[in-house]
Amino acid sequence: MANSPLLTLRGIVKSFPGVIANDQVALDLYGGEVHALLGENGAGKSTLMKILYGFYHADAGEICIDGQPVQIRSPHAARRLRIGMVFQEFTLIPAMNVVENVALFLPALGVTLQHHQIALKIREIAERYQFSIDPWATVGELAIGAQQKVEVLKLLLADSRILILDEPTKVLADHEAQGLFRVFEKLKQDGYAIVFITHKLREVLACADRITVMRKGKVAGTLVRADASEDRLVSLMFDTAIPEQVRARQTTSRHAGPARLELRQLKTRGEGAAVSLKEINLRVMPGEIVGIAGVSGNGQKELGDVVLGLESCVTGQKFLDGHEATHWSVSQVRASGVAFIPENPLGMATVPFLPIRENMALGNLPRYIRKGGFALDWQAVQQDVEDSYRKLDVPAPVVYMPVRALSGGNVQRFVLARELGLNPKLIIALYPTRGLDVPSTNAAERLLVAAREAGAGVLLISEDLGQLFALSDRLIVLYRGKIVGECRPQETSTSEIGYWMTGAEVAHGATN
Ligand SMILES: Nc1ncnc2c1ncn2[C@@H]1O[C@H](COP(=O)(O)OP(=O)(O)OP(=O)(O)O)[C@@H](O)[C@H]1O
Ligand SMILES: [Mg+2]
Repeated sequence: MANSPLLTLRGIVKSFPGVIANDQVALDLYGGEVHALLGENGAGKSTLMKILYGFYHADAGEICIDGQPVQIRSPHAARRLRIGMVFQEFTLIPAMNVVENVALFLPALGVTLQHHQIALKIREIAERYQFSIDPWATVGELAIGAQQKVEVLKLLLADSRILILDEPTKVLADHEAQGLFRVFEKLKQDGYAIVFITHKLREVLACADRITVMRKGKVAGTLVRADASEDRLVSLMFDTAIPEQVRARQTTSRHAGPARLELRQLKTRGEGAAVSLKEINLRVMPGEIVGIAGVSGNGQKELGDVVLGLESCVTGQKFLDGHEATHWSVSQVRASGVAFIPENPLGMATVPFLPIRENMALGNLPRYIRKGGFALDWQAVQQDVEDSYRKLDVPAPVVYMPVRALSGGNVQRFVLARELGLNPKLIIALYPTRGLDVPSTNAAERLLVAAREAGAGVLLISEDLGQLFALSDRLIVLYRGKIVGECRPQETSTSEIGYWMTGAEVAHGATN
């Protein structure tokens, strides 16, 4: 780590209507360090980094680089100061190849390179940092861990030396995150400064040199790695102690009745970048959590889509509560009591510019339409927002706030509150706790278990094996659109499941 900071932030203040997102924040960043930024959902982490990247303007405060005060009025200005940021949401264009994605990013810096020159540079960097990325590969076909590395690659090609990564591991399986940390190690040796935002404490302890914890817009403390422990970090982050991880009491006895969900010999076409599902046979009984394990991109999204009716099947049948639903529309499926938490809640489950209240109503219009169908019962909507958030153990937000003004984790909380609040019969949950802080993760897991106790069927798709083992009654491994294994968690080890999943990965070509 260098002797004097590369960057200092002093007295940063940023308010949005009704909230002080950053309140007198100070932070130093040194070349050669990984600086983790931690804090509960809505603590102000992304806001602070967006100020540093020129995306927002601070109301007050000072930014210095190499001891000199600077004004960062736009992302363009930030990039000229060699600051690069990977946002919480992906910004790559899936249909383009790696070279094209990088080429789109560079001209803003006045860099014009031929595609073959870019490809050469990508190879150079990839070799130095052991990325193993093919410059001509289509981004949408890369594993998600490799896509995250393309985001980092973009910043390196743009000559950034301060790299801000906002929850880069949110979508990564454990082994993919480890691959990214190995890249961090090398970048550190070359003097880069890395800001790494995450909610996973294990990751922080594995790769950070220093850790700053934010709480309600303020800095609660900065620790060096040697002084940090999970307990210490948790007590800096939250008011309350964290209860133990939720565990479902796994039983083999089930509620009576037809399967909440049954898929028989189901196949999908798999057009474009979609994976085709191959002869899926699957049952989710009432009162059962069926966990789906697998490296993401092996048909998880397609499985969710086909149940909801967003994707149609070529052959095979789908039953909901014993009724054939193969050709039902999405609204018919929803009306039958199916809750859906998609992989990308901001894009797939909300209309971001509309307020929370409208987004709540849109999730379940028939419930709120008044007699005659000309007006909505806003009081009932408001009541449902409050009740649903109470179940999640977080205060309800102001319902007039547009969803796009919510922090990443708060969008996820909203979708969970809406989908799990109304006693669904079947819950299709894709990565339901992605981007959530520890207490919200626990609350969401408790809600899934409670729904199961109440007789709902749950299809839980997750990359977190710990979560799958803790919650599932049965586990299924998905690989290239096929079910390649099924077991009971209490009779299986994570390494066995990991083996099935990694077997799939080796066949795809390793990404680390
Ligand atoms: N554009 C905006 N308009 C209004 N309020 C905003 C806007 N951006 C952020 N906020 C608010 O500022 C606060 C801090 O949000 P921020 O996104 O910085 O949190 P975060 O620490 O990154 O949380 P998460 O872990 O959930 O991503 C939140 O209360 C959020 O609702
Ligand atoms: Mg954030």
